[in-house]
Amino acid sequence: MSARHSCWVVSLATFLAAATAFASGRQNAGAAKPFDLIGWNGGQFIYGADYYPEAEGPVEKDAAMMQAAGINFVRMAEFAWEKMEPSEGHYDFTWLDSALKVLNAHGIKAVLGTPSASPPAWLMAKYPDIAAMNDQGVRYRYGSRRNYCLNNPNFRTAVRAIAIAMAEHYKDHPGVLGWQIDNELGSPDCYDSLCQTAFQKWCRAKYHSLDALNQAWGTVFWGHTYTAWTQVPLPWNTLYGVHNPSLELDYHRYFSDTNRDFLVMQTGILRRIAPAKPITHNEMGLFDGIDYSNLNTALDFVAWDNYPMFDSNFGNYAAPGLSHDLMRGSKDQQNFIVMEEEGGLPGWNTFWGRQAPAGLYRVWAYQAIAHGADGVCYFRWRTSRYGTEQYWQGILDQDSYPNARYQAVKQMGQEVKQLTDALKGSHPVSPVAMLVSPDTRWAFHIQTLVKNFDYDRQLHVYYDALRRRGVNVDVVFPQAEFSPYKVIVAPSLFVAPPALVQKLTDFVQAGGTLVLTYRSGVKDEHNVFTDQTLPGPLARLAGVVIHDYDPQIDQEQEVVEAGGPRYPSQVWFDILSPTTAETLATYGKGYYAGGAAITANSFGQGHVYYVGTEPSGPEFYDRFIDRLLQKSKVDSGGRLPDGVEMATREAPGRKVIFLMNYTAKKQSVDLGRPSRDALTGASESGSVDIPEFGVKVLATP
Ligand code: GAL
Repeated sequence: MSARHSCWVVSLATFLAAATAFASGRQNAGAAKPFDLIGWNGGQFIYGADYYPEAEGPVEKDAAMMQAAGINFVRMAEFAWEKMEPSEGHYDFTWLDSALKVLNAHGIKAVLGTPSASPPAWLMAKYPDIAAMNDQGVRYRYGSRRNYCLNNPNFRTAVRAIAIAMAEHYKDHPGVLGWQIDNELGSPDCYDSLCQTAFQKWCRAKYHSLDALNQAWGTVFWGHTYTAWTQVPLPWNTLYGVHNPSLELDYHRYFSDTNRDFLVMQTGILRRIAPAKPITHNEMGLFDGIDYSNLNTALDFVAWDNYPMFDSNFGNYAAPGLSHDLMRGSKDQQNFIVMEEEGGLPGWNTFWGRQAPAGLYRVWAYQAIAHGADGVCYFRWRTSRYGTEQYWQGILDQDSYPNARYQAVKQMGQEVKQLTDALKGSHPVSPVAMLVSPDTRWAFHIQTLVKNFDYDRQLHVYYDALRRRGVNVDVVFPQAEFSPYKVIVAPSLFVAPPALVQKLTDFVQAGGTLVLTYRSGVKDEHNVFTDQTLPGPLARLAGVVIHDYDPQIDQEQEVVEAGGPRYPSQVWFDILSPTTAETLATYGKGYYAGGAAITANSFGQGHVYYVGTEPSGPEFYDRFIDRLLQKSKVDSGGRLPDGVEMATREAPGRKVIFLMNYTAKKQSVDLGRPSRDALTGASESGSVDIPEFGVKVLATP
């Protein structure tokens, strides 16, 4: 056994034991009652495929193959508006009824999508101004999808009508479990006069008076003071391509609220007519066009679309991992489903993703479950023969051959049946949270800092290091309850409104550990620069002030730990002057060599770390996170082998442990305590082998 593995023997046993005690704390923390997803599907784990019977079939043959693969769920109809309403006010559900009948006979139930993402040609021909207008004042023409103005009254009337017709038709259908609203809301921005008026109305509702708006946005700059509401512009194209950052931040909020309003228009209809059927929407993980934590208060449960190979590679399991955790965090840590789980090679008209070995599609589906999914639905059952997505593979290809992906899906179909009892009532429990601030993400879009800054990478450098230690991580939004956590990592908290600062202060005061990083506390809630010494309202908590900073532009920098290693560093260099903090590392180069780069401050019962820069490479973060976990008494098992992920779900008195191997070689991890293979029932002790591109699911006790 290697030294690395023996490290796991010693500490993982404590780690796994420790988590249960923590779970009971969480359960008392008063989180909203989660929607029982497994119970919703007749006690079955939701296992499905996105299916398009309007364009493919024969349904009988497909349903038989689905059933043989353990599939008990489909999502349908989200792009079938024209098939359901071939001309205005004339509805035809016969094709969908007969598909449902066949699917139901094979034990497969459905979520139906309201089809507003793709309005029919007849509708846009009749009302061309349904099409959105770009920021150059040009209206889009018919084609593609997500091409509409959310505020267009003719569009909204038509959407209401199809939603009413669907709800009336399917309200009592036992084979329809619930609804998905639209498809991946969040685009396009529309700059027509309806949207301009809507934005002005939104501003008026928020500020009540123009004086208040002018004051909040600092419109005195460049003499942009507004004297009538009708003058307030959208952030459309301007001579230098810039707008007041305060106006732009409110625009992002307005756009997010407008999407929510459009969704609520539909949820209102569905709840009134079909109150027994729960509602969701398919979201996009780290996508930041919408504040999901706000949108999701209008939904019964969260669903999202997971495509690990779209813009990543297979070893990088932390990319989908963080998105799963963010989606869970967007609704009080409730379990969710993946409505579109990658089922094959991604490819569009104009690009290709990367193909993965068939077994990995199964591993990613397990990863979703490990992170809190109570259902996985693959996109899509079969690759389309038609249209823009002919290269985006489904489980089956156009020839319907039961290929290796189908076999992997089928294997998992048997397994999720066996695992359902173990999964029921369990959810991920995490001692550590990452704070994601939608305002901060938007503010960084508006003013991009320096060109190699990436807020998501700031999240990942810390998140990935925690995951490499097998530590579950929750993602929390500013309105979340912070008390269940021992550690909160809040990278680059650029926009720091007083209420959030107070919550973080209370958290640290009570013994929590907070990690802040460069460019924190810079803006208030209006995206106005603070007039306090940086890091503004966070300075007392961090025990540092910043009188100077240096954006990295064509220069090299490094951080030097006292008597320890040196790490190259990038992006931004806050030159810290400790007031009450101690210095952990200094800068190694340039005119501020020797100046503090990383500090630690004791505050109340807790601690605050301030990392004034972004060290490159994983070594720094591995060391930093080890110390952080040790200091804040969070147990971890040490570093997992590369390409192996561990995540746990817990229910009172028991745990389910997922070990996922994203590499082409067999790996092993020593849990240091006996466990049981949740699939075979075999006892495991000592070192657990995980096959290449494979999974081990263990249960304790
Ligand atoms: C998703 C979308 C699906 C399909 C898929 C593959 O984002 O919701 O409808 O387009 O991507 O491109």
